[in-house]
Amino acid sequence: MSETRLAPGDLVLPLFVEEGIDAPVPVASMPGVSRLPLAALEAEAQELTELGIPAVLLFGIPAEKDASGSGAWADGGVVQEATRRLKAAQPDLLVITDVCLCEYTAHGHCGVLDEHGEVRNDATLELLARTAVSHARAGADIIAPSDMMDGRVAAIRTALDADGSTEIPILSYSAKYASAFYGPFRDAADSAPARGDRRGYQMDPANAREVVRETLLDVAEGADMVMVKPALAYLDVLRRVREATDLPLAAYNVSGEYAMVKAAAQAGWLDERAAVLETLTAIRRAGADIVISYHAKDAAQWLQT
Ligand code: PBG
Repeated sequence: MSETRLAPGDLVLPLFVEEGIDAPVPVASMPGVSRLPLAALEAEAQELTELGIPAVLLFGIPAEKDASGSGAWADGGVVQEATRRLKAAQPDLLVITDVCLCEYTAHGHCGVLDEHGEVRNDATLELLARTAVSHARAGADIIAPSDMMDGRVAAIRTALDADGSTEIPILSYSAKYASAFYGPFRDAADSAPARGDRRGYQMDPANAREVVRETLLDVAEGADMVMVKPALAYLDVLRRVREATDLPLAAYNVSGEYAMVKAAAQAGWLDERAAVLETLTAIRRAGADIVISYHAKDAAQWLQT
């Protein structure tokens, strides 16, 4: 009589790939998650295929960073190379690439800065568009901009179309809140802002009405799929977005949500399997079609047994 189903096919696993390492580097604040070397991707792709997980969300950690984040759109960049390897290893595994500059900029912000250290929205759009085009050329199946600059979906759509990638969909991080739950991710991706925070471009956690406007703006600009992030503290937001659009809706069960469950489970305070399956089911119940989670492999295994 369950109204909501959860299956491995609903899940997306985020992957961190680092340039210039030989072996996986564990992320201290995310037990069970490592930064992977390029050489580990073939085996990873095979494991995911066997588990029935249809897609990965790719993040890159470059060897070098600079003021504009030029590693983000380098043809031989870490995400571009990782995409080629994953697609060669498992052509049916969907590669979703995260488009943002924060892993590539020396200052750690998601856009380029002006002389006062403020993010320049419009100057950043062109760089994001270039990044998206380079991902598509490397074989990415879906482009997922997470930077939260205004107008980025239109800029990316226009650039992809002009480059011949008219069939590549955009999964927009349409409702991304300025959340404390991204803390462990910033260790994993080495992307914490050196100064200031992201409240100038990410959303205010106190706002829910605004989310419908933000989402519909992205849809009007050409988003093919939309997202709410984080998931757990924002299930009401997820429900609102579900009611506002018929597009496929993703929810991102973020790093801090993962770390909380892992820590409690390691202390013996929580039944990890039961807590994770309950959480992922609740995210689906609130309206998500797609759940992006660091627990994806564990969950897929538990769902099979
Ligand atoms: C990049 C980005 C972030 C996350 C995904 N893409 C971090 C941030 O905005 O600081 C967070 C994901 C997570 O916490 O799992 N802009």
